[in-house]
Amino acid sequence: MNRTILVAGGAGYIGSQVCKALAAGGDRPVCYDTMEKGHAWAVRWGPLEQGDIGDAARLDDVFARHRPAAVLHLAGYIEVGESVRAPERYLHNNAAKSDVLIAAALRHGVEAFVFSSSCAVYGLPRAELLAEDHPIAPLSPYAESKARTERSLAAAAASGLRSAALRYFNAAGADPGGEIGEAHEPETHLLPLAADAALGLGPPVTVLGDDYPTPDGSCIRDFVHVADLAEAHLRALDWLGAAAPGGRHEAFNLGSGRGYSVREAMAETARLAGRPVPHAVGPRRPGDSPRLVGDIAKARRMLGWQPTRDLAVQIEDTLRWRRRVPRA
Ligand SMILES: NC(=O)c1ccc[n+]([C@@H]2O[C@H](COP(=O)([O-])OP(=O)(O)OC[C@H]3O[C@@H](n4cnc5c(N)ncnc54)[C@H](O)[C@@H]3O)[C@@H](O)[C@H]2O)c1
Repeated sequence: MNRTILVAGGAGYIGSQVCKALAAGGDRPVCYDTMEKGHAWAVRWGPLEQGDIGDAARLDDVFARHRPAAVLHLAGYIEVGESVRAPERYLHNNAAKSDVLIAAALRHGVEAFVFSSSCAVYGLPRAELLAEDHPIAPLSPYAESKARTERSLAAAAASGLRSAALRYFNAAGADPGGEIGEAHEPETHLLPLAADAALGLGPPVTVLGDDYPTPDGSCIRDFVHVADLAEAHLRALDWLGAAAPGGRHEAFNLGSGRGYSVREAMAETARLAGRPVPHAVGPRRPGDSPRLVGDIAKARRMLGWQPTRDLAVQIEDTLRWRRRVPRA
């Protein structure tokens, strides 16, 4: 489409996949990232502007030079457990600094703003499938930081900002083309940990609680492929571009609509790896919800988005990626 798009957090796991999808569609992604958690090898589809979303002067400089039509905001810290131990770190980096980025987007008149929110904003589920109108009841400072930023975006609609909050469920898998993938330090996500354990590349998986009110006692999650998530960002940009003039804000779930328990996901990893996933049971992690499975009808209907890569594809892509991930 030939647009310049500022991708905050574009050197991370999901942001780099979004940059690849933008470039494939003819857009020019400008990656804006502190590089604290990002990887230089993941910035391949446009320039890197190293900077913090909380740095208004640096943002003004980058916006003035690149004149992005839209902002995709994926920057932030991502560990629920760490956020319980260090709430201020999360509320400051994820929520307060997001407000600085939103203000910059307003100052520079961007046409659209897409934010990476999380299903964690729902807290304890009151229904089998969580729809966007489920109450917002964060169980952790991480989730609270997402809820706050969503509120800031909703408020900014009055100033003319057009935004979408994409509430990802569990991002999983790796680039189908094999170029990029998940490389968090520390890694806290189930599929890469299970893949590493099966491949003998990492320690046994710790199942974080097996006394939840679920059929096998482990938490149930909704896994969605990172390439499907990336595609949803393009759909969200198109939808915001086509919307009637004036500010607006809308939230969309991005999941698969189907839940798997931690034990089921480990069993599927073992099957596809052809090797067992060594594991042990540990205590529950504060801030975790027993079950988070999304109703994705709204994204289907309004964005025309449909996830196409199921859990088996996610695990196969993860196994392939973990065999060759650049390791420090
Ligand atoms: N991975 C998931 O399953 C998942 C689920 C729901 C929501 N999300 C959200 O999606 C986004 C991307 O997640 P990810 O898994 O790619 O994480 P990631 O850690 O791989 O990427 C985040 C990037 O943001 C950068 N960053 C952090 N703070 C910054 C700041 N103040 N200024 C500029 N850059 C900063 C980091 O350096 C990193 O490159 C996050 O906002 C996360 O909360 C992720």
